[in-house]
Amino acid sequence: MRLKDKVALITGGATGLGLATARRFAREGARLVLMGRRAAKIEAAAAGLGARAVVGDSAVEADIERAVGAAQQDFGRLDILVSSTGNLAESRNVRETELAGFMESLNGNLVAPALAARAAARAMTRGGAIVLIGSTSGLIGSQNRFAYATAKSGLVGMTRQMAVTLGRDGIRVNLVAPGLIPTEFNEGYRASLGAERLAAVTAAYPMGHLGDPDDIANACLYLASDEAKWVTGVILAVDGGLTAG
Ligand SMILES: NC(=O)c1ccc[n+]([C@@H]2O[C@H](COP(=O)([O-])OP(=O)(O)OC[C@H]3O[C@@H](n4cnc5c(N)ncnc54)[C@H](OP(=O)(O)O)[C@@H]3O)[C@@H](O)[C@H]2O)c1
Repeated sequence: MRLKDKVALITGGATGLGLATARRFAREGARLVLMGRRAAKIEAAAAGLGARAVVGDSAVEADIERAVGAAQQDFGRLDILVSSTGNLAESRNVRETELAGFMESLNGNLVAPALAARAAARAMTRGGAIVLIGSTSGLIGSQNRFAYATAKSGLVGMTRQMAVTLGRDGIRVNLVAPGLIPTEFNEGYRASLGAERLAAVTAAYPMGHLGDPDDIANACLYLASDEAKWVTGVILAVDGGLTAG
């Protein structure tokens, strides 16, 4: 019970890495608020975990504040935020990227976590832990994903900035940067590669295989728990060694 009695908000908690993290946190005794835009998905995820579901867009100020308010109303406080939202709205290279897609990517991948972190930092009056889900795309270059990489690298600066600002208030801020983990998020990307190129992408990982959502859930658990009480401002790549090469 490494999160016994802790109150956690997980944005993007309906599917993928956020849902795996929600399940892990529930097993460790956390009380949960899950947020997502698709009502049916977030309600199903929450029901399975005895969590509170909040339907909303974390890039919308009023919505994310409502989600933080739900944690405070139901459980009296907020101890943990995991921001696991993101999109691949604009995945092209710098020459091909259109402004509308670029802005949509920044909104979902950078503004949404920023608003979530701000709302959480305001609510964490007795300390807490913020975990942002970034990406290896924010740490190393790749052929495409100009907008996504720009947004995800912004989260690195955001993490360090907040860690310094909020340290004295007992709020720790860390970032988990996953490598490729098969989820609904990258179904289209994996399908577009085909078997042969997907095998080549997989072979680029020093450990020789892709990740599992539980790899991220376990990293989030450590960073959110009191075991990491002196860990802040860290960029933790969970990527089978991809960024080590
Ligand atoms: N899977 C990977 O290989 C991988 C690798 C590196 C980084 N990541 C990062 O990991 C995070 C989670 O990805 P995932 O693989 O778990 O994808 P996913 O299954 O698509 O999960 C993303 C979740 O976020 C929700 N969401 C998206 N934008 C939102 C918003 N503005 N407000 C509220 N909810 C929102 C989505 O639900 P709704 O659409 O219903 O809102 C969805 O449940 C993302 O930040 C992604 O960039 C993933």
